[in-house]
Amino acid sequence: MAILKIANMGHPILRQVAEPVPDPEAPIVRHLAADMVETMEDASGTGLAAPQVHVPLRMVVYFVSGSRMGPDADDIPLTVLINPTLEPLSEERAYDWEGCLSVPGLTGLVPRYTRIGLRATTLDGGLLELETEGFHARVLQHECDHLDGILYPQRMEDLSLLLFREELRHGIPERAQELLTKEEEREAR
Ligand code: NI
Repeated sequence: MAILKIANMGHPILRQVAEPVPDPEAPIVRHLAADMVETMEDASGTGLAAPQVHVPLRMVVYFVSGSRMGPDADDIPLTVLINPTLEPLSEERAYDWEGCLSVPGLTGLVPRYTRIGLRATTLDGGLLELETEGFHARVLQHECDHLDGILYPQRMEDLSLLLFREELRHGIPERAQELLTKEEEREAR
C-alpha cells in the first residue's frame, strides 16, 4: 500500500471527465482502492475520487461517520464505488459547508440535492444500489462530481461564501447563516 499524491485545484486531471473502469475485478483496481483508502485516511478526508490521485478512472472511496449525520445515526462503512451513476430523487436542494482534499484550507456553502439514488459496481463485481439523503447524499454528489471534472466551488451559487476554514473563527457570514437557518426550518417542518 502507498499514500498517493493528491492533485490540487488547477491541475488539469481535475477538469477531465474520467473513463469507466474496464474490469472492476482486476487486481490492479483492488490495489488502487487500497491506496486510495490509505491516502484518504492519512489526509483525514471523508471521500476521495481517483482523479484526485492523478488516475483518470471512475472510482470513489468514502467513509461517513454517524456523528456527521445525526445523534443516533450509524456509520456508513468504508465503501468503494466503481463506475457509479447518480440521480436526484427529488428537486429539493439544501445548503451545507463542504471541503475537498484538492482545495486545501477552503470551505464553501454548496447547494446539493437532498435525496439521491446511486448505482455502482463493487470490487467483487457485484451491483451496489442505494437511496440516501442528507450528508451521505451530499458526499456522494461531491465525489461523483470529481469523476466529471467538477469541483465544489463550481456548484456554488454565491462565491462570497467560499472562504478559508480558519477564518470561520471570525464568525459565519450573515448570508450563510440565513441559508442554513432556512434549512433548519425546512427540516423541522
Ligand atoms: Ni473533493
